[in-house]
Amino acid sequence: MSPFSLEGRKALVTGANTGLGQAIALGLAQAGAEVVCAARRDVDETLSLISAAGGKGHGLMLDFVDPMAAKDTFAGQGYDILINNAGIIRRADAVEFSEADWDDVIDVNLKAVFFTCQAFAKELVGQGKPGSIVNIASLLSFQGGIRVPSYTASKHGVAGLTKLMANEWAAKGVNVNAIAPGYIETNNTEALRNDPDRNRAILDRIPAGRWGNPEDIAGTAVFLCSKAAAYVHGAVLNVDGGWLAR
Ligand SMILES: NC(=O)c1ccc[n+]([C@@H]2O[C@H](COP(=O)([O-])OP(=O)(O)OC[C@H]3O[C@@H](n4cnc5c(N)ncnc54)[C@H](OP(=O)(O)O)[C@@H]3O)[C@@H](O)[C@H]2O)c1
Repeated sequence: MSPFSLEGRKALVTGANTGLGQAIALGLAQAGAEVVCAARRDVDETLSLISAAGGKGHGLMLDFVDPMAAKDTFAGQGYDILINNAGIIRRADAVEFSEADWDDVIDVNLKAVFFTCQAFAKELVGQGKPGSIVNIASLLSFQGGIRVPSYTASKHGVAGLTKLMANEWAAKGVNVNAIAPGYIETNNTEALRNDPDRNRAILDRIPAGRWGNPEDIAGTAVFLCSKAAAYVHGAVLNVDGGWLAR
């Protein structure tokens, strides 16, 4: 079997109805995994794409407005892979930033990620079973950004927690890594792409000379969940067309 195959493995992808989560769910299914597509709304489009590709997928409702939403999701369910992709962003000047915009983002992007990883690892470590976690970080795990304080704090936190969890769980057979996507074409970045000045400034700085597409992230997620990445622990892998190399 190819070292990149995910045949016989069961994955959960959060925020799988659209954007990066949808592409990652499809990519894992194309690599042979059975994929549970979690979201706070229907995932019919993702399931159709998976079934058209000859893969196996199911839907699951999970809303991380409650950061503990996934605490009972993994027990006895045979999961091997967890992708924490669901995320939100709020924009306002730092001097005006509201407590609600702080708490909402930290709850979904950081607190839910940690407690979902905890629930997944409790199940696997308890059984002595290997597995893989991939958290979706950001360029703002490394850079400060502007007008997005809670997003930047959350994504720096995701990078730190990824390393902490890798330190605790690597010897138990659970690989914990993160992907830091650059500028990728999804709903999240539509406003930037529609602003001609911002769009040009961004493109001028990307060595690859193009926006990323969700499939660029999906391929990296497949790799990090596969046997080919068995010795990769605690990495925050930039998939950014070279942005951070500038
Ligand atoms: N696109 C980029 O350039 C980029 C760059 C760096 C990092 N990222 C990260 O990549 C991840 C995916 O973003 P995307 O670009 O694909 O954006 P997106 O299209 O806006 O997708 C975000 C996903 O998160 C889900 N979500 C939001 N709040 C949720 C909640 N309370 N409970 C459950 N799911 C929730 C969304 O569900 P709904 O559709 O129901 O809102 C959606 O499925 C995020 O963590 C984001 O920070 C994206």
